[in-house]
Amino acid sequence: MDSIIVTGGGPLSGTIPIAGAKNACLTLMPATLLSDEPLTLTNAPRLSDIRTMSQLLGSLGAEVSSLSDGLVLAMSSHDLNGERADYDIVRKMRASILVLGPLLARQGRAVVSLPGGCAIGARPVDLHLKALEAMGAELELRDGYVHAKAPSGGLHGGIVDFPFVSVGATENALMAATLARGTTVLKNAAQEPEIVDLVHCLQAMGAQISGEGTDTIEIQGVDRLHGATHRVVTDRIELGTYMLAPLVAGGEVTLGGGRRNLLDAFCTKIEEAGAEVTESDAGLTVKRANGPMQAVDVETQPFPGFPTDLQAQMMALLCTAQGTSVLEEKIFENRFMHAPELIRMGAEIDVHGGHATVTGVDKLKGAPVMATDLRASVSLILAGLAAQGETRVGRVYHLDRGYEHVVAKLRGVGANIERIKEDG
Ligand code: EPZ
Repeated sequence: MDSIIVTGGGPLSGTIPIAGAKNACLTLMPATLLSDEPLTLTNAPRLSDIRTMSQLLGSLGAEVSSLSDGLVLAMSSHDLNGERADYDIVRKMRASILVLGPLLARQGRAVVSLPGGCAIGARPVDLHLKALEAMGAELELRDGYVHAKAPSGGLHGGIVDFPFVSVGATENALMAATLARGTTVLKNAAQEPEIVDLVHCLQAMGAQISGEGTDTIEIQGVDRLHGATHRVVTDRIELGTYMLAPLVAGGEVTLGGGRRNLLDAFCTKIEEAGAEVTESDAGLTVKRANGPMQAVDVETQPFPGFPTDLQAQMMALLCTAQGTSVLEEKIFENRFMHAPELIRMGAEIDVHGGHATVTGVDKLKGAPVMATDLRASVSLILAGLAAQGETRVGRVYHLDRGYEHVVAKLRGVGANIERIKEDG
């Protein structure tokens, strides 16, 4: 199993190119199931989660070719021959549930494993199921699987009023509704840039959708969707992660392709903590405005709020900011698993329920650490960038799910970081 070794050092400088968004690509890929014509995605990220989704689509009979060194995914679902998403794949990646809506809409049947819990929380899929039921789907939960059937005339339009915002349930409902008879209205829908990106792709395939980027999305079902080519939106979480690097370690870094409107609440928060963020044609440039970073309070929220997917990385920054910060996690009940590891590096953090109180210390100290999920892992790398001595981050496979070329990208701006192979 590989580890990443970071040795804390001096200021960073240069440019980090930001890839296409993992979480957009993971919902754009199942959209291929909606059409018998090819769907091509450009600006795809090179990640293990993308390979897992390719494998899942392949098991359903879709063809997925990875071209141009993985940047282009050419997909065709002309000859679908499967309807079952097996537990072996779904347990590896929860986004597998996103094949449910498209399969049901196109083939009228689907059998998808329930994902079960995960490191950051229970993460049920009840909202996905309720949305599909509102479109007439008949669902049965048996042997750990959802067995779903569309009524004889296919799915029909419906009104779905989500009790709280769910990105995945909005995506599943959106995709299913594109081929349903009549109009579907999604109320309290997610507004994330990845949802808007999915809608733009579906529109390019001929879907009739309005209201994307607001909390009410209306979909007028059509008989069929056609092929399209779509560019995956920039990964705002990779962007935010690397924006924190020069704030932790000092220096000035430009994030190639970054746009402020993808992360406005996050930008405002780091500015409050003492960052200077400048937008130009090249992307976003970040440095400390003057002097050390200051404590700030953070509350995670659905878009346009502060993203839960940047909470762990923000905590790494606040560990050495001046003063006491309170982070409140409102989306996932168990998303502070990085705190005990940061404490091993000398951080002062007190976790109590959905809150973490962080009191800044002068310096963190390198230590062997490991994390239980993707964002927690990268927060340990950020912490290691300015820590005294060597930080060894284990369980690197979490990072490979969501950050392409993390070592090369950070080395490119002067970080002292390497990946090593270890036995066992
Ligand atoms: C997406 O997960 C992202 N994953 C997550 O990215 C991200 O943290 C999350 O949205 C929130 O922004 C992908 O896009 C592939 P939700 P998703 O449904 O869709 C509860 C990362 O690190 N809920 O918006 O699964 C749920 O438990 C990650 O890249 C239900 O109760 O998130 C959570 O508390 C991990 N019932 C809240 O809603 C449901 O049916 C929001 O979850 C669905 C969700």
